[in-house]
Amino acid sequence: MSYEQYFGLKEQPFAITPDPRYFFESDQHMGALIRIQHAISSAKGLSVVIGDIGLGKTFLSRKILDELQSEEGKYEVALLIIIHHEITAAWLLKKIGIQLGVENPADDKSMLISQICRQLIHIDEAGKKAVILIDEAHMLQTRDIYEELRGLLNVESSSHKLLNIVLFGPPELEQFMQMDPPLVSRIGLKVTLRPLDQNSTHGYINYRVKVAGGQREIFTTEACSMVFEYTRGIPRLINAVCDNALLEAFIQKKERIEADVVEQVSKELGLTKV
Ligand SMILES: Nc1ncnc2c1ncn2[C@@H]1O[C@H](COP(=O)(O)OP(=O)(O)OP(=O)(O)O)[C@@H](O)[C@H]1O
Ligand SMILES: [Mg+2]
Repeated sequence: MSYEQYFGLKEQPFAITPDPRYFFESDQHMGALIRIQHAISSAKGLSVVIGDIGLGKTFLSRKILDELQSEEGKYEVALLIIIHHEITAAWLLKKIGIQLGVENPADDKSMLISQICRQLIHIDEAGKKAVILIDEAHMLQTRDIYEELRGLLNVESSSHKLLNIVLFGPPELEQFMQMDPPLVSRIGLKVTLRPLDQNSTHGYINYRVKVAGGQREIFTTEACSMVFEYTRGIPRLINAVCDNALLEAFIQKKERIEADVVEQVSKELGLTKV
């Protein structure tokens, strides 16, 4: 028997995959989502989402991608995830070109840029907005990358910008962006993610349990408060503590998760109280 069966769940509530069904609409994350959607619909150009490790940047970027894609015919949107810091401006431009639908992207940079510009005009004429979301943007670490992004942001029609870019990264992203001060001055929206507060942490835990098929309260109120104390409201840590607490409570044949089990697994994970 698995802990899912034991607690009457259909699946594991705290798995790390960014499954949109599990997106908890905390004030934090929803506030960020609404602001970014507004920035995109009003063609602000560049938006930046800053957040420490595990606060939900990647999940938010996926959620925005889903939301925009669900509005059929309105957006030409792509999500790029930068996996190492050795990428070049040429690589990034090519990737952006391909994602925007440029056919046969040229190797020559100035040709590629004019292909992208033409494609942006084409997308605009089709009544769509072009959006590039870039996760792990702090892996962009050369000045010419930021200069090229700025160049793309400068592409405008007579009335509005033709490309929206949203960068997601930890605080050091802002330092890398300083390599190109004119780009920094073009930031139309900056959102800083913060950890969940105590109430939202309770809501988060109960929401995920419910989505996983939980029919009753599995984590007591005291247990949720203890999760908050050990995780300080950081979603990734909440997931780790709650997943371990479910397993431990199952092994100990407990009916529900009380504060003591949360404390035990949190200590085992090396966490300390606030
Ligand atoms: N709004 C949310 N609703 C539900 N789960 C969330 C939410 N935000 C974050 N999480 C969960 O928290 C975990 C960490 O989130 P995510 O990977 O998005 O963080 P991150 O900020 O991208 O971290 P990193 O800095 O390491 O890239 C994920 O497992 C995700 O499922
Ligand atoms: Mg991430």
